[in-house]
Amino acid sequence: MRKKIVAGNWKMNLNKEQSLQLVNDISAGLGNIDENTRVIVSPPFINIPYVVDAEKRNTKVEVAAQNMHFKESGAYTGEVSADMLLSAGIDTVILGHSERREYFNEDANLLTQKVEQALEHKMDVIFCFGEKLEDRQADNHFNVVEYQLKDALFHLKESDWQRIVLAYEPVWAIGTGETASADQAQEMHAFIRNLITDQYDEDVAEEVSILYGGSVKPANAQEIFSKPDVDGGLIGGASLKSQDFLAIINAI
Ligand code: PGA
Repeated sequence: MRKKIVAGNWKMNLNKEQSLQLVNDISAGLGNIDENTRVIVSPPFINIPYVVDAEKRNTKVEVAAQNMHFKESGAYTGEVSADMLLSAGIDTVILGHSERREYFNEDANLLTQKVEQALEHKMDVIFCFGEKLEDRQADNHFNVVEYQLKDALFHLKESDWQRIVLAYEPVWAIGTGETASADQAQEMHAFIRNLITDQYDEDVAEEVSILYGGSVKPANAQEIFSKPDVDGGLIGGASLKSQDFLAIINAI
């Protein structure tokens, strides 16, 4: 059975003290979560060790990275490798976030290399993709999503998919307060699952968790999560407040 996942993407927010406060508040407020549910937080690199350390006392919250370099090591000033993440206790990485694509020019070719590097290191990948507003307005959103997936992921082996989590994040809904309706999310998630069935088979498609991201809040989480092909959420703004994040976890 595929996992339910609520993942917080802290982006470039919170200093050390604030990060510790937030993760401790989340841990303290977290009731029993069932075995099939993963709760993940993703601090910026520099705060990862503190958050991992805090979480050693409470293994219910996993810690992921927001990015990673595609090379093993070397002269890449400012970058962080898979091996560094693993040795810091991180085995899940978010790749392809629209902010990385938009502000740091991450394209399909680069993302393919990052995904391959993560998989070689047996890391889980939360792979983000989604159309821009103009794509949706031009009724081109299914095409865009199809190519984003094909370009970066559809060359992978069937077994690699055990480590892939998909996060459909329409760019027009990220940080804008505008959410895709639950029906729009379901429609796209079902489309994505069909693509995976066509490329691989139904077993692979049924096992992959597909998260929705884009202005998920306590007020809309339950409706979005109630859809059969929505397996959780990637949460930005609302993951920075423990009350909101806990309410979203309770909605899964
Ligand atoms: P948001 O961000 O929840 O603030 O819209 C989602 C994301 O960027 O993953």
